[in-house]
Amino acid sequence: MDPAELRELLSAEGLRLLDSLPPYESTADVVSLVSGLRKAGHPAGLVAAVLSQAKLRARAVRKFGPFAERMLFTEAGLEQATRLSAAAQHAGRFHRAGLSWIADLGCGIGADALAMAALELEVTAVERDEVTAAVAAYNLAPWSNARVENADAEDFDLAGVDGVFLDPARRNASKRLTNPADWSPSLDFAFEVAAKLPTGIKLGPGIDRELIPQSAEAQWVSVDREVVEVGLWFGAVARPGIHRAALVLGSHGTAELTAEADSEDVEVGALGEYLYEPDGAVIRARLIGDLARQLKGRMISDSIAYVTADSATSSPFAACFRVLDNFSLDKRVLKRELAARGIGTVEIKKRGVDIDPAELRTALSPHGDAEGTLILTRVQGRRRALLVERV
Ligand SMILES: C[S@@+](CC[C@H](N)C(=O)[O-])C[C@H]1O[C@@H](n2cnc3c(N)ncnc32)[C@H](O)[C@@H]1O
Repeated sequence: MDPAELRELLSAEGLRLLDSLPPYESTADVVSLVSGLRKAGHPAGLVAAVLSQAKLRARAVRKFGPFAERMLFTEAGLEQATRLSAAAQHAGRFHRAGLSWIADLGCGIGADALAMAALELEVTAVERDEVTAAVAAYNLAPWSNARVENADAEDFDLAGVDGVFLDPARRNASKRLTNPADWSPSLDFAFEVAAKLPTGIKLGPGIDRELIPQSAEAQWVSVDREVVEVGLWFGAVARPGIHRAALVLGSHGTAELTAEADSEDVEVGALGEYLYEPDGAVIRARLIGDLARQLKGRMISDSIAYVTADSATSSPFAACFRVLDNFSLDKRVLKRELAARGIGTVEIKKRGVDIDPAELRTALSPHGDAEGTLILTRVQGRRRALLVERV
């Protein structure tokens, strides 16, 4: 979105038009919608701006639920925005630490700042990009305790600020940036701030662990089983004695595993009646050992993130499967066994074996009314296919 398009959108006519549109659904609707709006006399530029905004709002429901329909977005801003459930967790840290004035340095469209404002923190949200800053200002307008500055975060005067949040941009227009010096604001700048003030830094979950300072609390977060970020927390917004955490947010609610350090592994052992697939946040946080102990389990193989046990324990940190059968990983065997059970719909999961599930499914040409799940992996080092059912 360029500044001119944004100006059109932010006009009284633009906002009224946007709020009057039906939910954005299919391309067919859009064609008739555009011609209807044009016939009603709205200028082409405005119609285009309003429709692309309606489309972004529809996409944003996944991250912001019903709040999306009261917000504005840019394409990149929505892509990079923190989901509301995770933003609420960030804001909660500053709130619990009793801090009042928070600077969100590189606020994007303002998702984190919004969650902070909702907890009645004083928020100054700083954004370098003019259009993004204007969008953040619109999103934060209902909150008198929040304001947006269109400025460079690195020039912002932190005197009097109690805490800082940074979510550096880690991609440019075309690609993901792997060098932390290229992130913006840079990781070095973020760490300099963290040395002075209680600070939270949101980063990609796959960050090189060597970059994580010893003093930080590193918390990996998954939302509905997708690992979305690692948060590095410093000072009063970090928790004493915790350096590794896996926070699992989902329909079950909120659950967390915490530890002082990476957990000790448990031994590899014989395949039991149950197999657990740990949540990605637990895997990234290297807390599988602690989880396996909770589940009274053992590892299925060296360096494979499946836990096996003799009993089923319900856990928010892992999906649990009952092992129904255990075959050698051989196409002919699998084809025969699926056919014998009338399994025509197969979910194929794999870990630790170099097989393309889609290719294997085609090769198995399954048919029948039954459904089944195959887990392709190594059991105590040997390549096996496990027929399982979800518990
Ligand atoms: C990942 S996004 C932030 C997303 C935000 N936390 C949210 O949930 O909506 C990073 C933002 O930082 C902005 N940015 C990058 N470098 C900056 C700088 N030096 N000063 C201010 N803003 C900057 C980018 O324009 C981008 O909008």
